[in-house]
Amino acid sequence: MSTTISTLIKGGTVVTADREARADVAIADGKIVEVGVDLEARAGARVIDASGAYVMPGGIDPHTHMELPFMGTTASEDFFTGTSAAFAGGTTMILDFVIPAPKQRLLDAYRQWREWAAKAAGDYSFHVAVTWWDDTVHEDMGTLTREFGVNSFKHFMAYKGAIMCDDEVLVSSFSRARELGALCTVHAENGELVWRLQQEIFELGIHGPEGHPLSRPPEVEGEAANRAIRIAEVLGVPLYLVHTSCEDALQAVTRAQLEGQRVFAEVLAQHLVIDDSVYRDPDWRTAAHHVMSPPFRARRHQEALWQGLQSGRLHTTATDHCCFCTPQKEMGKDDFRKIPNGTGGVEDRMSVLWHHGVRTGRLTPSEFVRVTSTAAAQIFNVYPRKGAIVPGADADLVVWDPSGTRTISAKTHHQNIDFNIYEGMEVVGVPAITISRGNVVWEQGQLRSERGAGRWVDRPCFAPYYAAIETARNLARPTAVVRG
Ligand code: URP
Ligand code: ZN
Ligand code: ZN
Repeated sequence: MSTTISTLIKGGTVVTADREARADVAIADGKIVEVGVDLEARAGARVIDASGAYVMPGGIDPHTHMELPFMGTTASEDFFTGTSAAFAGGTTMILDFVIPAPKQRLLDAYRQWREWAAKAAGDYSFHVAVTWWDDTVHEDMGTLTREFGVNSFKHFMAYKGAIMCDDEVLVSSFSRARELGALCTVHAENGELVWRLQQEIFELGIHGPEGHPLSRPPEVEGEAANRAIRIAEVLGVPLYLVHTSCEDALQAVTRAQLEGQRVFAEVLAQHLVIDDSVYRDPDWRTAAHHVMSPPFRARRHQEALWQGLQSGRLHTTATDHCCFCTPQKEMGKDDFRKIPNGTGGVEDRMSVLWHHGVRTGRLTPSEFVRVTSTAAAQIFNVYPRKGAIVPGADADLVVWDPSGTRTISAKTHHQNIDFNIYEGMEVVGVPAITISRGNVVWEQGQLRSERGAGRWVDRPCFAPYYAAIETARNLARPTAVVRG
């Protein structure tokens, strides 16, 4: 039976994480079926002229929070609006987070999030947060990995009194993840220190958003990153650090990697290009809209982060897309501790990285693909179904116009938030066409996303690899000496 090609992308330069070459891409039934030179357009197929453009795997954002209930409110972007906005920016898959309330069964929370996500226009998968511990958590981690396609668990080392994990929970969860072959991820900030600093700063009379970064200095992130890494090292489990924002945390990552420890790290697009001067903006609204954790950092950290990304010590780029509109931010009008933490950007990540990364020579186009798509697919085990342009892969693609321009603005973006942290930034390099599982979902500035068209993506564990680690640990383990 011959395959009926529905779409042929012709004349573009195909860029993957490992190469760049002139080739056409044929799509049938939502999959890539052929990649080659001068492919024939069959009758009835739509031909997309990609001359002058790059054809790349659709972006994967490994860190978003659509419609997250958080800090007394709910993130304004839902799974439909959020995945649609992602399409407008060239991103075709998100990894979001199930965050159970303390004492809530992980499976119940997971089911709740699946219900919410059923409206997504683009494909998605979930990390599941471990926010507390008892035998049911142990059991549910097993069920989630074996039956529900979850292979990563998240640990918040901050947000004391809410979703924070102490070391006991970290140790229990990391040990369980090792048994299951799942990946542990951490939000690395010392929550006890943040709590103490928040009270001290507030009592000093600093109540505005400028208090936020003062309560979360880089040392607080560096300490937690190092602690999580050391715990992972002792327990023999790989680790993924989300939103690495400062040199202190990057140093902990670098040391571990140089010692041969398997530590992956993510950086947010906004931490690469925005510095902490935003908190001194005389306009309260502007400053409050930058309240996120970890906060924006002094400029020297940005250079370190770029170097980390260029050298491969930072593997993925994300957004931590977690939108709150102005009335929500105003919940903390008189107290920075109550400003819901989070910023948007799922629509902007790819262009910001192309403009500031590729156009400045920091990244090659292939490196851009690696850090915006392929590395996330590999680390979270959906490669090469996602993050690749090979026959059999999902046809999640972006036809990238390297000379197209956009002035980023809340007035024109598709994100459900009344503010944009990149407001006024002119970027060169935009998605001309975005394709999700074979369907054109963004073209000539028009969204064609369909509510509910997104699919859950199963992510199996890495059992064989973890088994190898376990064997190595057993070899190194001391044995008791039997005497007389
Ligand atoms: O400020 C942030 N990052 N909000 C979302 C929750 C988190 O810490 O990732
Ligand atoms: Zn976080
Ligand atoms: Zn987050």
